[in-house]
Amino acid sequence: MTERVYRITLIEGDGIGHEVIPAARRVLEATGLTFEFIEAEAGWETFQKYGTSVPEETVEKVLAADATLFGAATSPTQKVPGFFGAIRYLRKRLDLYANVRPAKYHPVPGAVEGTDLVVVRENTEGLYVEQERLYARGRVAIADRVITYEASYRIAEYALRLAEKRRGRLALVHKANVLPMSDGLFLEAAYDAAKRHPTVEVYEVIVDACAMRLVRNPKDFDVLVMENLFGDILSDLTAGLVGGLGIAPSGNIGERAAIFEPVHGSAPDIAGKGVANPTATILSAAMMLDHLGETEMARKIERAVDIALEQGPRTPDLGGHATTEEFADAVIRALVETGTK
Ligand code: NAI
Ligand code: MG
Repeated sequence: MTERVYRITLIEGDGIGHEVIPAARRVLEATGLTFEFIEAEAGWETFQKYGTSVPEETVEKVLAADATLFGAATSPTQKVPGFFGAIRYLRKRLDLYANVRPAKYHPVPGAVEGTDLVVVRENTEGLYVEQERLYARGRVAIADRVITYEASYRIAEYALRLAEKRRGRLALVHKANVLPMSDGLFLEAAYDAAKRHPTVEVYEVIVDACAMRLVRNPKDFDVLVMENLFGDILSDLTAGLVGGLGIAPSGNIGERAAIFEPVHGSAPDIAGKGVANPTATILSAAMMLDHLGETEMARKIERAVDIALEQGPRTPDLGGHATTEEFADAVIRALVETGTK
């Protein structure tokens, strides 16, 4: 039998991207699966070199790969002519409509035990159409919030399929009591999609109540689906439930490409010191393997991360003194012990 070769594009980006991506690559190499890694550039350093934060070659490499692992990209605080955020551009350009953000308990300080949920955020519309206007000589500002049946249906469909693979529960998060037309349409599309998934228990939660219930009882939730801004806010909340930025992985998934990335940014305050926590990126790599159908190996990596977090040494953000490399070594040791391919 010929072995499957996975083509993975790696984009380090900026800052600690240069540290966490090589660490995650070493973990992938230790699995015993066969990878062909393709390196690509994006972000602020890339903009300074080529005048664009995402060269066409990078888009091609993402399209040519089975999946892409992305580190983080810096956005300058001042507006720079011609600059655009790399990950936002790739989401839009490649129609990566599903932003998938799991929040699962790992043994780190402050994490709520038993939490195991996934926020599925619609990634292409809502307020992120970025249509704003000023009126009344600058005293009134209006932003458009776009909800379409098609985009709502396809994100609900994605979330329903995910719920089927998990514990079979899907929360439709909305504010249709105040926004009956737009969020009403979102709900209508979601219920239409749900007709084809009768085994999933679908229920509604109003977004503000959802925030409270997530804090008080995260174990109530399995999969949650929502429009763009609600997902942006609640997924940071759920990252907080499991120990924060150093831990939280994510995926941006479309029909033509999939990009997995830690939720955190380029962390300029610690970049170059070799102490960034690679956990979120390693867990993003595990999510990527899940997406590629390597479910068992994905679980093995997650378990290895837990063992490394329990036994230490941890990175400084978690109160330890390990370097990025030392922590990745601990994950690899645990992975090899649990038996790789
Ligand atoms: P950040 O996530 O880079 O950092 C926030 C704080 O968390 C910092 O103190 C940092 O040291 C710490 N931190 C983050 N990741 C860590 C890790 N893996 N290990 C240990 N500590 C970690 O967010 P910030 O400071 O708001 O943004 C910095 C830059 O990153 C900005 O240019 C921003 O635009 C960009 N950014 C990029 C994102 C992406 O590429 N998807 C997401 C968020 C921010
Ligand atoms: Mg955010």
